[in-house]
Amino acid sequence: MITEKGASIKTALPGPKAQELLAKRDENIARGISYLVPTFVEEAQGALVKDVDGNVFIDFAGGIGVTNAGHAPQQVVDAIKAQAEKFLHTCFMVAMYEPAVELASRLNALTPGDYPKKTMLANSGAEAVENAVKFARRYTGRTGIVSFECAFHGRTLLAMSLTSKVKPYKYKFGPFAPDTYKVPSPYCYRCSFGQSYPGCSLQCLKQIERFFVTECPPDTIAAFIIEPVQGEGGFIVPPPEFLRGLKELAESHGILFIADEIQTGFYRTGSLFSISQSGVVPDIVTTAKSLASGMPLSAITGRAEIMDAPDKGEVGGTYGGNPLSCVAALKTLEIMQETGFAERAAEIGERTRARFLSMQEKYPIIGDVRGQGAMLAMEMVKDRVTKEPLPVKDIVAYAVNKGLILLSAGIYSNVIRVLMPLVITDEQLEEGLSILEEAVRSCCEV
Ligand SMILES: Cc1ncc(COP(=O)(O)O)c(C=O)c1O
Repeated sequence: MITEKGASIKTALPGPKAQELLAKRDENIARGISYLVPTFVEEAQGALVKDVDGNVFIDFAGGIGVTNAGHAPQQVVDAIKAQAEKFLHTCFMVAMYEPAVELASRLNALTPGDYPKKTMLANSGAEAVENAVKFARRYTGRTGIVSFECAFHGRTLLAMSLTSKVKPYKYKFGPFAPDTYKVPSPYCYRCSFGQSYPGCSLQCLKQIERFFVTECPPDTIAAFIIEPVQGEGGFIVPPPEFLRGLKELAESHGILFIADEIQTGFYRTGSLFSISQSGVVPDIVTTAKSLASGMPLSAITGRAEIMDAPDKGEVGGTYGGNPLSCVAALKTLEIMQETGFAERAAEIGERTRARFLSMQEKYPIIGDVRGQGAMLAMEMVKDRVTKEPLPVKDIVAYAVNKGLILLSAGIYSNVIRVLMPLVITDEQLEEGLSILEEAVRSCCEV
């Protein structure tokens, strides 16, 4: 039980116990696994994380967007315990169980689109993306997949191939999966066509038609895959007209529209799914992260005829939709829907945006403030005119040392993003934002 109400840093980081564990970690864990906070967690509840030395952090990272319903919500923990007492695993492909069916039925009802849907449950975001591509290819009989610059879809071979940031995600990990293509991102702050939004000619959308002429005929493309707000790429919010135009283009060529809601889903952006805010109805939605409050679970939900395209045994996996994750997800969804998460996300978003905008007036390194709902970011630059990127690792380190867990993002690693649990209290939110401001100020004073 964490008794503190906010951040409380008692030792220099890492503290004595964490130092011992760090040494053991460095000896035993592969070097390529990075870490943000140089300590080890003892407990986490709501929006607070306590380490092995008694330091308490306000969490603006939420395990990378996984804890929208907070760390270890009691009802979710109870549901997992009750399920664990019954059985842990049978493999849904061997001996089935009700929670998986119930969850699929909930996701079919909740995802955008007023048409019959079906769901496949898997374990991770990357696995959901991989399978979404399998469904799209089998259904359309086509193989091409188009993703966007600045996209992040995961780290497995196909998902990595659809991802668009060379270092650290792709560098020297090729060759990549064939028949995957990138087109420009609707990244208005750094428009590839030198235009500014609103009032632009949506050249990024037109570029796709050009791509059909120069690169690949549309009748070979199975799907577009897009994050309704690009996450790791820097919380890039496509203009709604762009998403609608993309959907129209997809429809006109028989191309499927896959919305990757892995980071944006489950009220992060103020609505259950971000794509609804543009009015676009996707053919397939991928979800994971906050779906099950930290239990490994992902889902691919789509039009029934698409999801029924593969034959029995052609998709699946040993652990997909494991019973502990399914009961965790069912309880998480219940909590989110019954306790007004949409309103709370909007409130958190408004307060945070207002604070970011007032910071932007004071600190010239804040080039852009953007986001949707409680998925907000500040892009840092050395100069507002040249927009030369300012990497944010010092800001993040400063904040962590003061008791705020903070994430970076962006293709230039120059974006501060926030993914705080939506159960964060007003006091914790204000305290976290104050630490963040102090961290930004410290960087301006150097
Ligand atoms: C939009 C998006 N898609 C896919 C993934 C990959 O998810 P996972 O890390 O669970 O494989 C992520 C992870 O950050 C993501 O943000």
